[in-house]
Amino acid sequence: MDLFISPEERTRLCQVAKDVAKCAYAPYSQFRVGAAVLGERGIYAGVNVENASYGLSWCAERSALSHAVAKGDVALRAIAVACIDADNKQGIHEFLPCGACRQWIAELAPNSEIIIVGVDRVFRISDLLPMAFRLRKSNDPGGRSVEQARKASFDT
Ligand code: THU
Repeated sequence: MDLFISPEERTRLCQVAKDVAKCAYAPYSQFRVGAAVLGERGIYAGVNVENASYGLSWCAERSALSHAVAKGDVALRAIAVACIDADNKQGIHEFLPCGACRQWIAELAPNSEIIIVGVDRVFRISDLLPMAFRLRKSNDPGGRSVEQARKASFDT
């Protein structure tokens, strides 16, 4: 996998994350988040989706990662996150992915560049989630290797 992200790709990914954030469904928090994942075959966007039963709300990063998985693109190179309602005065913390999303990134995009729109610093998952929990993968259909998943997506 090519880990290098060009400046053009970075700019485009941030733009997609910012644009899609406007589609977030966040009537309770009024905190809209957009995420965009760069895979081998394209860009996959996602937003946070809240629910009246608050605990069922879903984050933008996990939406975007699910989108990439559903498209069979499993070689993920970068993820950009845009928290368009975050308050700069609160420092960086309103912009960073939550713990659950960090665990998802560790699983699905472990080598990716993590770009936080508006923050002039690139992160890796080892910065955000050191000593992440990992489990060995079995051969059941949900534990496909990258190569198996790619082959399956081309065969369909
Ligand atoms: N949120 C995300 O979409 N991503 C994160 O990493 C942090 C939080 C969403 C969830 C909720 O809809 C709103 O932001 C406020 O927590």
